[in-house]
Amino acid sequence: MPSGFFITLEGIDGSGKSTQARRLAAELRRDGRQVVLTREPGGSPGAEEIRALLLEGPPERWSAETELLLFTAARRDHLEKTIEPALAAGQTVICDRFADSTRVYQGITRSALRSRVDQLHEMMIGRDADLTFILDMDPARGLSRALARRNGEERFERFGEQMQHRMRRGFLALAAEYPARCVVIDAERDPDSIAREIRDIARARLP
Ligand code: TMP
Repeated sequence: MPSGFFITLEGIDGSGKSTQARRLAAELRRDGRQVVLTREPGGSPGAEEIRALLLEGPPERWSAETELLLFTAARRDHLEKTIEPALAAGQTVICDRFADSTRVYQGITRSALRSRVDQLHEMMIGRDADLTFILDMDPARGLSRALARRNGEERFERFGEQMQHRMRRGFLALAAEYPARCVVIDAERDPDSIAREIRDIARARLP
């Protein structure tokens, strides 16, 4: 059985990741691939319960350290229950956010915890995506799009626009740190052009 391929989409809030993840999944299924479309925090029943703890309520509900532990617990469950079984069965996994979000949000922008983020990742997760799309867009635009959703999951958006600027810089720095895995996508364009670019890059990299 061939081993599967793991694709992640990352970026600031409101950058259009979820739409593009869905579109990529549909394109690859049309190509005849078996695709699991999933998201973080969440993606397994246990991790979806942890998601509500993390994304609802006031910003000061958790410290960056506690968040790091909760995100890692959710990721471990997601990995065990959803991601690893799909990859072992030779499927393509497309995940809306993964460990890069922790590296940026808890590691750099919420507080300087990057070395702890890396240690926990090494100890408890131990794998990264094969290909990561970083959707880049103006933080003010992303924030207004994310806040317009009003789905009760705005805890991170409530940290404000300055935080979104730091996050954007953090994602671009990560792309430079992992150039073999990360591709930066200009997400200010129309969704069809973005979807075509992502599909073409994914097709070229898939085994
Ligand atoms: P989203 O579902 O709208 O992408 O929201 C998830 C929020 O959680 C987003 O603001 C980023 C944040 N987040 C972290 O802070 N660390 C993480 O590891 C992950 C996966 C998400």
